[in-house]
Amino acid sequence: MGKKDKPPRKGTLAYEADRHACYEEAVQCVESEIDFVDDTYKKLRRRRAKVLREDFCGTGNTSCEWVRRRKTNTAIGLDLDQEVLDWGRRNRVEKLEPEQQSRIRLLNQDVLAADCEAADVILAMNFSYQLFKTRDALREYFRRAREGLSDDGILFIDAYGGHDSYKEIEEKTKHKGFTYYWDQAKFNPITGEMLCHIHFQFRDKSWLRNAFTYDWRMWTLPELQEILVEAGYRKVQVYWEGTDEETGEGNGEYFPTNEGEDDPSWIVYIVAEK
Ligand SMILES: C[S@@+](CC[C@H](N)C(=O)[O-])C[C@H]1O[C@@H](n2cnc3c(N)ncnc32)[C@H](O)[C@@H]1O
Repeated sequence: MGKKDKPPRKGTLAYEADRHACYEEAVQCVESEIDFVDDTYKKLRRRRAKVLREDFCGTGNTSCEWVRRRKTNTAIGLDLDQEVLDWGRRNRVEKLEPEQQSRIRLLNQDVLAADCEAADVILAMNFSYQLFKTRDALREYFRRAREGLSDDGILFIDAYGGHDSYKEIEEKTKHKGFTYYWDQAKFNPITGEMLCHIHFQFRDKSWLRNAFTYDWRMWTLPELQEILVEAGYRKVQVYWEGTDEETGEGNGEYFPTNEGEDDPSWIVYIVAEK
């Protein structure tokens, strides 16, 4: 075990910390994600989506937001890791109103062998599909997701890129009670494979290192759009983030376009209609 992998010492803030809670705080904003999904589905389909399937759901936080939105909404979260599903059930699902709880299920299932009702919306967020490293494997996932959609269903994925995304660099962001580190540890330009870690550091300087590790492939936007079309989606559209005129930073509003900018780092949504 290297120095970087040492578990935190008893009595430190890192030892007491909950890695799933820190993850949600650092990388998720389920309210704005669901705003985008809900509004975009309504614009494209002229009706509200009801059934949402959250692939690679982790704690199921996004599914919980979906059932909070409307009484007619139901959610199914799929993940292979029983530990994270149990955490989500205890800390997220059980905190919902009983009636809301009756409209959500977190299932231990492989997204490639999903066995549940057809969904109006399937989400594959926080770049989770990047764990499929070959074109064939990724196309197969997109194809099976398409089969899991209702006739007018829509798949929503996010993607990130820009020249900073290919560098072996570490970026840190302060949050209440901890600092979040996104560590792009190893990039292989020949295969496109990237090894990334998430670390958290606390006020007493203690660390939760390698709290999460991602061994995945950096897919480009042209590749993702082509593979989605190959998987059978009728229409595939990238939604780029608008710019706040005062700060020059992203404004959290995403719009459909075929022309992006050479930003060092960007995040987009891709919307793939069945
Ligand atoms: C990056 S996390 C995504 C968390 C969440 N979707 C989010 O937006 O923050 C990836 C999750 O995918 C799960 N996973 C990996 N392979 C899977 C598969 N084949 N089927 C279902 N879940 C899988 C992992 O257990 C992990 O919880």
